[in-house]
Amino acid sequence: MVFRRNETPWPESVLLGVGAFLLLYLAFSPQLSNAAVNQIHALQAAVFLSVAFLIGSLARFWPDVFEPFKSYRRPLGILGVVSAGAHVFMVFVPLGWNPAGWAMTFGYAASIGFLLMAVTSNRAAVRELGYPMWKRFHMLGYFALAAALVHFVLVELRDGVFDPSALEAGVMVFMALALLARLVAFLAGSPQRHSYDEHFLPRLVRRV
Ligand code: HEM
Repeated sequence: MVFRRNETPWPESVLLGVGAFLLLYLAFSPQLSNAAVNQIHALQAAVFLSVAFLIGSLARFWPDVFEPFKSYRRPLGILGVVSAGAHVFMVFVPLGWNPAGWAMTFGYAASIGFLLMAVTSNRAAVRELGYPMWKRFHMLGYFALAAALVHFVLVELRDGVFDPSALEAGVMVFMALALLARLVAFLAGSPQRHSYDEHFLPRLVRRV
């Protein structure tokens, strides 16, 4: 969050308090199963990546409110990819599963798409590709998010029965909203942007 000088950083302080409570809670609670840790990584990846995309679309319509959050897009995107990597690691190593089928094909497609986004979310990649090409290339991120959503829906569709928990259904709806917001922003026409900074930095910072 971006604060003016001398403003009390309440949101960070509250977040720190909640984080400390959760860490202590984990320290005292019984050990989590590998399957639960895998689900946590998967859901975290889905939420972080959706928020990273959503910020851009919301800033298109309400710049005064959402522009300051733009500097969170890159860390959220990269942390989302790290969580997705942890999810895949958990599936193959601690859980020792060997899943296959369409759900996994979409999972791999999403992973490759997000990985490409993560390694090209820097100024060096913009210099290398040129801004217009880089921007077109980064549209791939929305296909990756759509692939992740299809992966999620297919995983939850077990033996023709679709019965996600409330949390899983909530995350699915959130991902769908992030995609819908992007579609609306796309149809409304995005303002002309010319640089990497305009994607990742709030306007106030860029002007300095
Ligand atoms: C960006 C990439 C990916 C994202 C965002 C993602 C996200 C998710 C989500 C949200 C779930 C549902 C978790 C739940 O049951 O609550 C899930 C399940 C699953 N994913 Fe992925 N996934 C990704 C890539 C992959 C890949 C590449 C594989 C291949 C190994 C994979 C394997 C699985 C499996 C086996 C499950 C079922 C887990 C279970 O039954 O508990 N995922 N994934």
